[in-house]
Amino acid sequence: MQPIQLGAIGQQILKIENLSVRRSGKTVIKDIDLKISKGEFVAIVGPNGSGKSTLLLAIVGALKLNSGSIQIYGLPPVSGLHRGRIGWVSQAASYLPKHVRISVRELVSLGTLSAKTAFCLTDQERVTKAIQMVDLEDVQDVDVSRLSGGQRQRAVIARALASDAEFILLDEPLVGIDRDSRNSLLKLLDNLCYEENKTILMVSHDLTAMRKTAHRMIFLEETIRFDGPTDRFPDLDALAELRGINPASSCIETDSMED
Ligand SMILES: Nc1ncnc2c1ncn2[C@@H]1O[C@H](COP(=O)(O)OP(=O)(O)O)[C@@H](O)[C@H]1O
Ligand SMILES: [Mg+2]
Repeated sequence: MQPIQLGAIGQQILKIENLSVRRSGKTVIKDIDLKISKGEFVAIVGPNGSGKSTLLLAIVGALKLNSGSIQIYGLPPVSGLHRGRIGWVSQAASYLPKHVRISVRELVSLGTLSAKTAFCLTDQERVTKAIQMVDLEDVQDVDVSRLSGGQRQRAVIARALASDAEFILLDEPLVGIDRDSRNSLLKLLDNLCYEENKTILMVSHDLTAMRKTAHRMIFLEETIRFDGPTDRFPDLDALAELRGINPASSCIETDSMED
């Protein structure tokens, strides 16, 4: 985790007030209040089924809100992309269909379709830069289906970068990739935040990885039970108390929250 650049954080990117979302008649998340400013790297952690993906899907405009409001850059989320300013790396990102023949470069180029028009870089230059940023130059002409899980995840992130998205949301990008790839992905995200002033909201059940990388951590379990700087994230006993359970019966491990 690099130190936060004071002054780089400012403009409010996301504002959520009193949000609740029901799915199939069941309240999945409720009483959510959350503000995120430009340049922040925020991790959302929590056990399986605690509503992490639901919150991200609500933010990108894919789910109906039961109550409350969400504003991104001061406007309600629209379905899918928000004027090309949001990069969305979904939980299924690394499971690209195997039967679709598409090279890394072609996949990344798809990102430019949603980009704003007034840019000094041409689309091709932007694609090249995005591929360089995720370190996939050597395999840019290789079919996506032949990449490793980590490479594929980086290709999907490059697609978001090619769109020049300022606010990047990722849902469990570390799942299914080996340790080296995981570390290089975390480093990439850290650099995007620190050097490119991107704003990152990332869901992961990998508590250890998030502790090393994010500036701010949110513990979500139906509602937000902790939100603060990473160095103040509660230890396991305090976490169990926040969750209203006996520490002895807690299923949370330090490096994984998956059940
Ligand atoms: N498509 C859906 N329809 C109805 N309920 C769902 C759907 N997807 C998820 N849920 C329920 O919402 C809850 C939270 O799911 P999710 O947001 O995917 O959790 P997480 O990402 O934290 O694992 C779970 O209880 C899950 O069963
Ligand atoms: Mg999920």
